[in-house]
Amino acid sequence: MKITPLDAALGARITDLDLSKTVADGEFERICAAWLEHAVLIFPNQVLSENHLVAFSARFGWLELPPASESRTRGDGGAVLPEIWNISNVKVSGEAIGSLGNLEAEWHTDMSYLENPPTASILYAREIPDQGGNTSFANMHAALEAMPKELRRRLEGKSVIHDSAYTSVGELRKGATIVADVSDVRGAVHAAIRKHPESGRPVLYMGRRLNASFIDLPTQQSERLLDEVWAFCTQPEFAYEHVWTVGDLVIWDNRSVIHRRDAFDNGERRIMWRTQVKASAGTSQLTA
Ligand SMILES: [Fe+2]
Repeated sequence: MKITPLDAALGARITDLDLSKTVADGEFERICAAWLEHAVLIFPNQVLSENHLVAFSARFGWLELPPASESRTRGDGGAVLPEIWNISNVKVSGEAIGSLGNLEAEWHTDMSYLENPPTASILYAREIPDQGGNTSFANMHAALEAMPKELRRRLEGKSVIHDSAYTSVGELRKGATIVADVSDVRGAVHAAIRKHPESGRPVLYMGRRLNASFIDLPTQQSERLLDEVWAFCTQPEFAYEHVWTVGDLVIWDNRSVIHRRDAFDNGERRIMWRTQVKASAGTSQLTA
């Protein structure tokens, strides 16, 4: 197994490893250490069944099942195991086999609207379009470290409410209510600057711009500060853009990385299998 850091603010490629076979404990420890260090790991050229993907994902913790509101139409390349979330624009008889369609997904942290968001997200590329659908990742340790002191000081001790109503492509979730006013949002509250639960390193935790607001700040002031922080932390110097190849498996640290996806032509097919990993006991909570 070979670990090669990317020439970017985060990420490493792991080669000479077949994830369809059981990964030895020693190798898995090296993978976990690399994951903490580089935040995003790319395993190219993997040929995995649904069971392989679930077995490897479950080494990192227990797997969060998709909510009942997720579309679960089966067939045409979509995974059928309950642990796998289909991210796809493919439809069978007019019904989507997965979520997010072909739309752009804005910068976000997966499921930050929960009190206890997943620690890791894993995507496995099954079918990809010729163009578009790239996924970018940005390192929130690096952004915080590079942040002007004055901006960081304004964030210290502040918390953000994370809206649960909309998906990362801006679609209203089933059963959710339209947000007419950002001061009336439902979702979890998280400290803007926290310590990573495993490394202890300070990290920026912003979730998503849409409908976010700082608690205890007037709306206008909150909007201005959010715009400033988002403009800073999404600069290209903190990011890496992944151009997918079929067979890529990518895992990212959802506690230190934000990500986004480009739109793509809806005439093309994109099928990704995703798993969401919750922490093992005792490591799930980010601490302020
Ligand atoms: Fe996401």
